[in-house]
Amino acid sequence: MNSWLPEAASEIAPKVDNVLVAVTVISFIFFIVVSAALVILAVKYRRRAEGESTPSITGNETLEIIWTVIPSVILVAIFIHGLVVFNEMRRPPGEAVEVNVIGKQWLWQFEYRNGKKTINELNVQQNMPVKMIMRSDDVLHSFFIPAFRVKQDILPGRFTQLWFTPTKVGTFVIFCAEYCGSGHSQMLARVNVMSPEAFARWEGRGAAAQTATAAQSSLPAYKRGEKLYTNRGCNACHSIDGSPGIAPTFKGLFGRIEKFVDGTELRADENYLIESIYEPQARMVAGYQPVMPSFKGILSEAEVSDIIEYVKTLK
Ligand code: CUA
Repeated sequence: MNSWLPEAASEIAPKVDNVLVAVTVISFIFFIVVSAALVILAVKYRRRAEGESTPSITGNETLEIIWTVIPSVILVAIFIHGLVVFNEMRRPPGEAVEVNVIGKQWLWQFEYRNGKKTINELNVQQNMPVKMIMRSDDVLHSFFIPAFRVKQDILPGRFTQLWFTPTKVGTFVIFCAEYCGSGHSQMLARVNVMSPEAFARWEGRGAAAQTATAAQSSLPAYKRGEKLYTNRGCNACHSIDGSPGIAPTFKGLFGRIEKFVDGTELRADENYLIESIYEPQARMVAGYQPVMPSFKGILSEAEVSDIIEYVKTLK
C-alpha cells in the first residue's frame, strides 16, 4: 500500500508513514463527503423558476454542533497521533551510539567514537540506535535520510541532533535538504546499514577489511584515485572535464601554472597538490573562494598519492 513512498528502513519510518496515511485518508474522505454534498445540494436546491425566492434560514443548532464537534475530535486525534510519534523521534534512547557529523560546503564528514572518520559515507549497524551530534562549519544545511524519515537542520555555532534505528541492511541516500550554495545539489552522502558481523569487521579492521584493502590495492593507483575522487566528495567542486565550477577543474591541472590571490605563481606538481589537499588555504588560486576543508586526518598520504596519480591522467 505504501509503495508510493520511499522504502521504510528505520524503526520510526512506518510510524511516520502511518501518520501521513491517516491524515491523507481522513482528508480524502472529507473531500469526497464535502464535494458530494456540494454537488447534490446544488442540484437539489437549484432555482427552478424566474420568480422563485430563497427561503430565509436563520440557523440549525444541531447541525452546527455536529460539524464543529466531529472535526474537532478528529483534529485532536491527529494532533495526539502526530505528537506521540514526534516525541519518539526527538528523544534518543540512552544506549544510542553517537556519531559526530559535520556539514560543510559541500560534503558530509562523519566521526565515530573509535576515532574513525569518513566522508560522504555513514556506516551504521542494523537495529542499533544511532544518535547524530551535528554541526555546520559554514552555513545552514539540512541532514535528510528519506528512507529513515528523519531530517534536521544543522547550523554553525550550535549543535543539533537526530537519532534513528536502521532496520534494513542496505545503502540509502543522505541529502542536504537546505539550499546552501552552488554545490548544494552535489551534497550527497550514503548511509551503509551493515549486519552486526559486517559492522564489527568495519570497526575492527578485521580479516575481511584487510581482504577488501588488498583487493583495492590490486587496482592501479590512478584507478584507486578515481574512486576516491567520487567517494570522498572531490567531485562536488572539482570537475574533470574542464567545466568551470566552485573550484579549479582537475582537467589539465597537473603541470599547469596556477596563479594565486597574492600574485605568486607555481607549476602544479605533487607537492603543490598534497599541500592543496591538506592545507587548502595556504595558497588560494585567484578567482576562487577559500571554501575547501582540510583533508588532513581524512585522506592518508597513500590516498592523496592515488588522487594525484588520477589527476595526472586528466590531461
Ligand atoms: Cu548543504 Cu544544501
